[in-house]
Amino acid sequence: MNLLIMGPPGAGKGTQAEVLVKELDITHISTGDMFRNAIKEGTEMGKKAKEYMDQGQLVPDEVVVGMVKDRLSQPDCQKGFLLDGFPRTVDQAKALDETLKDLGIKIDGVINIDVPREKLMARLTGRRVCRNCGASYHVIFNPPADPDKCNSCGGEIYQRSDDNEETVGNRLDVYVAQTQPLIDYYGKQNLVKNINGDQEIKKVLADILEAVK
Ligand code: AP5
Ligand code: MG
Ligand code: ZN
Repeated sequence: MNLLIMGPPGAGKGTQAEVLVKELDITHISTGDMFRNAIKEGTEMGKKAKEYMDQGQLVPDEVVVGMVKDRLSQPDCQKGFLLDGFPRTVDQAKALDETLKDLGIKIDGVINIDVPREKLMARLTGRRVCRNCGASYHVIFNPPADPDKCNSCGGEIYQRSDDNEETVGNRLDVYVAQTQPLIDYYGKQNLVKNINGDQEIKKVLADILEAVK
């Protein structure tokens, strides 16, 4: 099964993706995680991407599209994949269509997690992330058992540099202007599964599994 998971910053894409890929035995591809890994490794691409990410702006399409193309042609994507955080512009969606056509595969569904904007700021400023495996936590809504360690891998917990009020504000505006139009783009292809993301994490997961089965 080949799926996209969409929704505003803080909607719960990463939280749900972590479990969904295990349940469905597919590969998780998060462009945000790929950029954060590139930053950690100190690559040229990582340095360039960090400038945009810290402003809450999108990394230019040509950088992202090439990176995803390479990733999708790797063997672990053949069993199916969950794309998280890509596409984010109509041009990225068109590029993805081309890439999938070349690979002879199609998208089976687009999960759209909906959360009221006023809830997203608290989710993001209280988020904590595992530096090793990328697992998402929240100081109030989903704290790790030990505040400094990841439940699943024991990695160090940190706060993303783009999870401050000012940058989150920009990310939310960029989402509305550039990414939200994609819901229409995929809606026209009858692929969108709307999910209420303003519920308990477990209930959101159950709704997604029901929608994609
Ligand atoms: P990216 O890493 O994709 O960030 P994002 O889209 O802003 O989304 P988030 O990861 O912030 O939110 P999420 O939906 O995954 O929420 P999570 O599950 O963690 O991108 C970062 C940057 O990289 C972009 O700004 C851009 O610069 C660049 N980039 C990436 N892809 C790009 C692309 N394709 N093109 C161009 N640039 C790109 O949950 C959030 C918090 O809420 C957590 O604390 C969690 O514990 C909590 N939570 C989750 N679910 C619930 C619930 N049901 N109830 C209560 N709390 C919950
Ligand atoms: Mg995420
Ligand atoms: Zn971890």
